[in-house]
Amino acid sequence: MNAISKPSNGAYRIVDHTYDVVVVGAGGAGLRATFGMGAAGLKTACITKVFPTRSHTVAAQGGVGAALGNMGEDDWRWHMYDTVKGSDWLGDQDAIEYMCREAIPAIIELEHYGVPFSRTEDGKIYQRPFGGHMKYYGKEPAMRACAAADRTGHAILHTLYQQSLKHNCEFFVEYFALDLIMDEEGACRGVIAWCLEDGSIHRFRAQTTVLATGGYGRAYFSCTSAHTCTGDGGGMVLRAGLPLQDNEFVQFHPTGIYGSGCLVTEGARGEGGYLTNSEGERFMERYAPTAKDLASRDVVSRAMSMEIREGRGVGPLKDHIHLHLEHLGADILHERLPGISETAKIFAGVDVTKEPIPMLPTVHYNMGGIPTNIHCEVLAATGKDQDKVVPGLMAVGEAACVSVHGANRLGTNSLLDLVVFGRAAAHRAAETIRPGATQAPLPPKAGEASLDRFDRVRNAKGSTSVSELRLNMQRTMQTHAAVFRTSELLKEGVEKMDKVAAGYSDIKIADRSLVWNSDLMEALELDNLIGNALTTVYGADARKESRGAHAQEDYPERDDQNWMKHTLARVDDKYAVSLDYRDVKMRTLTNEVQVFPPKPRVY
Ligand code: FUM
Repeated sequence: MNAISKPSNGAYRIVDHTYDVVVVGAGGAGLRATFGMGAAGLKTACITKVFPTRSHTVAAQGGVGAALGNMGEDDWRWHMYDTVKGSDWLGDQDAIEYMCREAIPAIIELEHYGVPFSRTEDGKIYQRPFGGHMKYYGKEPAMRACAAADRTGHAILHTLYQQSLKHNCEFFVEYFALDLIMDEEGACRGVIAWCLEDGSIHRFRAQTTVLATGGYGRAYFSCTSAHTCTGDGGGMVLRAGLPLQDNEFVQFHPTGIYGSGCLVTEGARGEGGYLTNSEGERFMERYAPTAKDLASRDVVSRAMSMEIREGRGVGPLKDHIHLHLEHLGADILHERLPGISETAKIFAGVDVTKEPIPMLPTVHYNMGGIPTNIHCEVLAATGKDQDKVVPGLMAVGEAACVSVHGANRLGTNSLLDLVVFGRAAAHRAAETIRPGATQAPLPPKAGEASLDRFDRVRNAKGSTSVSELRLNMQRTMQTHAAVFRTSELLKEGVEKMDKVAAGYSDIKIADRSLVWNSDLMEALELDNLIGNALTTVYGADARKESRGAHAQEDYPERDDQNWMKHTLARVDDKYAVSLDYRDVKMRTLTNEVQVFPPKPRVY
C-alpha cells in the first residue's frame, strides 16, 4: 500500500497490482478478450464500473451476423460485400474480410461455450433477416442474424462471464478507470482506477491494457445506450494525447420507442414488421423499393425523418412513425419477440398484438472510436506513419474503430465485432505476451497527473451543476449533429460545444467524499463525454460530403476523391481540437472479394 498526499484532502490510499493483462470494461468485447486471455494462461484482470452482466451488451436484441447458411444459402464473401457497401466505403477492407470470415468459427465457438441460441426445427442456430444483409452480392435478403429470441446480447454476455470465471480471470467490479499510465517512450504501462466502494485508488501495471469501454451514446439527449455509455476509453485516450477516429459517424436506430428511446430490434422488421406514416402508407416502398423496411439503418432513419418533416408523422404532434407487428400474431410475437413485446408495454403502454408502436430514430451506435489495426493494437497514427502502434495498448468493441463499420454499421455487426475482435485480441496477446514476464517498475510519478485531475474535480467549487452542463451538451448534440446536418447547424454546433467544454471549469461538486460519490463519478464521465462530443461535431463540420450516417444537406454527394479518408481528432487539455486524416484500407486480406465504390449516391 502506498499513499500520495494532496493538499486539499490529505492522503489518497494507493494500492498497486501487477497483471499480464488488464481489460477495462466487461461488455461482450471486454469479456471475450478477458476469458480468451485467461484461457491462454495469462494472469488477467477485468476492471468494470458496473457488474459484468449489467454491461450494455445485455441490451442487444436482434442477433449476431454470421454467414452460417443454416436457413438458406449464405457465404462470408456476401457478408463482406454487404458490410463494405453498408460502410459507404469508409470501412477498412482487410478488417471487414477478417470479421466476416472469422464470424463463422467465432459463433460456432460461442455455441460450444453455451450460448442458448434459438433453434430451427432440425436443431441448428436460428437465423433471421436484418437490414442490408443480402445474398449473391446484394441480390436478395439473407437469413444471417443468429438469434437467441430478441435477447441475444443477454445470452452472449452471461455465457462469456461464466467462461471468464471458469478461466480464473479476476474481476474488479465497481472500479472506475481514471487514466492510462503512459511512459516517456509513449508506451502504455497500465491504468489507474478508483474503487467506488471504499474510495481507494488502484494502479494496475500490465504488459498490455485493453480498452473495452463501449460507446458514448449519452453525449446525446435521446439514445438507446445505457446511462453508463460515457466514452470513458475515448476520454482516456484523448488525455494520453492519442487520436479518436471517425467520431462524426453516429448511427441512429430507426426504431427507438417515442419518448424513452428504448430499442425495438430491427429483428421485428426482420420477422415481418413494417412502418407506416399518418396516411397509413408503407412509405419505405418509396424510398427503398427492393429492401423496403429492411433497408440499411441510415436509409430508414432518413426516410422516417423525411416523412415527419413533410407533415406525415403520426400522433397529435405528427412527430413520430408507427411500427406494426400486430399482423404477426401472438404466438410468433411470444416466441421470437418476447423482450420487445414487454418493452413496448412498459415504455409505450402498447399491446403489440393489437396496436402499432410509436417510433422515432434514436442514437444507437458510434462507428468511430479508438483506431486499431486488425490485431486490436491501438494506433498512435502520428506523422507519416499512420500504422504506428502504441506499445502495450489494445482497444476492442464499440470503444474501438478497427474500422469494420466505416460510415454506417449494419445491424448484427456490432455483436459480431465484439466477439470477433475480443477473440482476436486474446489471440494476439497469447502470441505476444509471455505469462508472468518481469515488468519494469512504473515511472516514478505514474498516475500523479491523473490524481491531480481527480482531486481538482472532486473539489470543484464553480456555479454550474454537472447535470445542467450535461443536458446542455446533450441538447446541443441532438440538435446540431443528428440525422440531418447542414453547414450552418454544424458551425453553430461547434460554437455551442466549445462553450459547453469551457463550462467544465465552472462545475460544482456537492459531495467531496470518496465512497460511492456518484456526483464525482458523473463529473468524470462528463469530461469523457465532452471529449468525444467535441471530436464528433468538429469532425462532422469539417467533412464536406455526405457518407453513411453523415448526411450533410449542403454537400449531398459522397465525394470519394476528397473524402474517402478517416478523420483523426485529438483534443488537448484545454479542449482544443485538431484534425488529421488517414487513408482507408482498400486492400483486402486475400483478394477473394474486391469491393470498389460505385458512382456516388446522392442523399
Ligand atoms: O435492432 C437490433 O436488434 C440492433 C442490433 C444491432 O444494433 O446490431
